[in-house]
Amino acid sequence: MEYPVKTETENKAEDISGFITALVIAISNYSLYSKEHESFGEFAGRCFSALQTIMQEKVEIMIFENELIVNRVPVRNGGLHINNLIARMRKKGVLRVEILQGVSHHEMTSFIMDMAQTGQKLKGYPNIMSGSVDFLVSSAPPEGYESNSVPAFVEEGVEKVRSAFGSGSVFRQVDIKGLEDVVMGFISVFRREASILKYLSPVKSFSEYTYTHATNVSLLSVLQAESLGIGQEFLYEIGLAALLHDAGKLFVPKEILEKQGKLESHEFEEIKKHPLYGARYLAKITSLPHIVPVIAFEHHIKYDGTGYPSPGRNDKKQHVYSQIVAIADFFDALRSRRPYRESMEIEEIFVLMKKCSGTDFNPFLIDNFINLIHSSLNK
Ligand SMILES: [Fe+2]
Ligand SMILES: [Fe+2]
Repeated sequence: MEYPVKTETENKAEDISGFITALVIAISNYSLYSKEHESFGEFAGRCFSALQTIMQEKVEIMIFENELIVNRVPVRNGGLHINNLIARMRKKGVLRVEILQGVSHHEMTSFIMDMAQTGQKLKGYPNIMSGSVDFLVSSAPPEGYESNSVPAFVEEGVEKVRSAFGSGSVFRQVDIKGLEDVVMGFISVFRREASILKYLSPVKSFSEYTYTHATNVSLLSVLQAESLGIGQEFLYEIGLAALLHDAGKLFVPKEILEKQGKLESHEFEEIKKHPLYGARYLAKITSLPHIVPVIAFEHHIKYDGTGYPSPGRNDKKQHVYSQIVAIADFFDALRSRRPYRESMEIEEIFVLMKKCSGTDFNPFLIDNFINLIHSSLNK
């Protein structure tokens, strides 16, 4: 009888789920019994040997959305054990655990015991690190835009935004569900203390600009909102609105949008209509939060009421969420390298921002934004 030969990847995946199963069993066993109970020692031992089979320099366990990723491989075989580990990690406020090669049996046993205790944070161990931040990105070079090591979830975000917008056809309804996933992904992985510039996606080609820009503006808006203490629910609304702020560009002829030379005045007038087109389009999608079309309409209105689409001064003040998105939009537009224009240095952008503070932008939000980017650069 011939047995099908397993590929290396299949073996690897099997070893990983074997380790996760052993880990969860050991944790559950400890929560049921105690350290003295003989079966605990046995299960902790099994977990330690299963760990050795997958150990490279380290073993990384992380949660992304509802998936468990071990050594960058999503773990799909393990059913309830996976859900159990995700729930336990979340309860501890941990999204990522890194176990280094030199880990001892004793350390691993203490880690299992700590994971089993409810209402207690994880202790620090010499060879096991844990945190709420995706510290994967810390290995990226400081100039985020030049880097090729944009975290996978951001690249995935850009991809989802692209498919949500479809081929740019105005007849196709934007896939809101896909966009919701992107924003929720940002919020769950993203924390203020991580260096935001490392998260921003580089624009690889002109046609990609729309999606990478939308993704970056969303991240930068959520970053600001989070720093201002705005609650989760609203972070989500702002993130979603920021992803859709330029949706009206779907209605502007491509030849104008992608024109590489100087725009004629009638062409510029057409571009200036995109906030209105966007607001009209988004207002029709009833499943969207009300703030989404408002932000699309207001993102080019300035703090002093000038700007477009409305000529002259507006009676109504721009919503504070639109002010946040406008700052993110301005920064990303100048920071992105385009086929016809080099990107600007961050400090040059800040000089411009400060010049326009109080007229184009809310001065408090500008100071906050500059501080946030500075502190993320120093991390
Ligand atoms: Fe815009
Ligand atoms: Fe924009």
